[in-house]
Amino acid sequence: MAGQVIDGKAFAADVRARVAAHVARLAEEQGLVPGLAVVLVGEDPASQVYVRNKGVQTLEAGMRSFEHKLPADTPEADLLALIARLNADAQVHGILVQLPLPAHMNADLVINAIDPAKDVDGFHISNVGLLGTGQKAMVPCTPLGCLMMLRAYHGSLSGLNAVVVGRSNIVGKPMAQLLLGDSCTVTIAHSRTKDLAALCRSADILVAAVGRPEMITGDMVKPGATVIDVGINRVERDGKTRLVGDVDFASAAAVAGAITPVPGGVGPMTIACLLANTLTACCRAHGLPEPEGLTA
Ligand code: GUN
Repeated sequence: MAGQVIDGKAFAADVRARVAAHVARLAEEQGLVPGLAVVLVGEDPASQVYVRNKGVQTLEAGMRSFEHKLPADTPEADLLALIARLNADAQVHGILVQLPLPAHMNADLVINAIDPAKDVDGFHISNVGLLGTGQKAMVPCTPLGCLMMLRAYHGSLSGLNAVVVGRSNIVGKPMAQLLLGDSCTVTIAHSRTKDLAALCRSADILVAAVGRPEMITGDMVKPGATVIDVGINRVERDGKTRLVGDVDFASAAAVAGAITPVPGGVGPMTIACLLANTLTACCRAHGLPEPEGLTA
């Protein structure tokens, strides 16, 4: 029996609508408009598309959008000076520096220069530590989006076996922390994991975030499991470029209870959660109640 396909586009539209409704209330009741600053260094085409989409969706949610585009050869000191200005700007509640940065920049140094309260990516070392110790943090957008979909689909995640394949700082590790926070039993698998297939088959929740096209196949999925595919891989097929996930959708969907497709699964949730994080940062900065259902 084929599993239910989790519609990330519909989920993301719902998150954006809830953010927009909360933003409208903030404007009406507090005269407050959340603002997101996005910084892009260089001309990477994929990054330009992401940044444009972020700007459009920020405005659609009723927030202020500030875009800063710097040439690829910008000295690191100039980027740090811009971040310092954004940190001090009361109209800016969220700051995102688009990655990857040019090779002459130290990404850790740059990310850690952002005020942690405005770090809507959740990449600052303070937020990493807060999440790791179960304290209130800014949470990375992609794992937050995955968690929201899992909660909506399952209700409680308590006691479920979760396997996260991939140990990146952006997805794998924070995803594992969030699942642990919701009382899953969590295992992180990676390239050195022994008998990955057997481990994956033990998972009630299987999150694939490795960046290897279609490496998780149906024989690695427990019947009825929920499969979250974070991968976005470009492959050449029949002379065409296609987007595929880290999961072989056809074989996994035949076994899973529910599965996210690529495209149209996790992807749309990332920007929706960026908007949610910007709203959360604004509410926290002003000592107002946080939006319900839009945080970890
Ligand atoms: N580049 C690709 N995805 C992301 C993201 O989520 N945040 C940042 N800052 N850069 C990215």
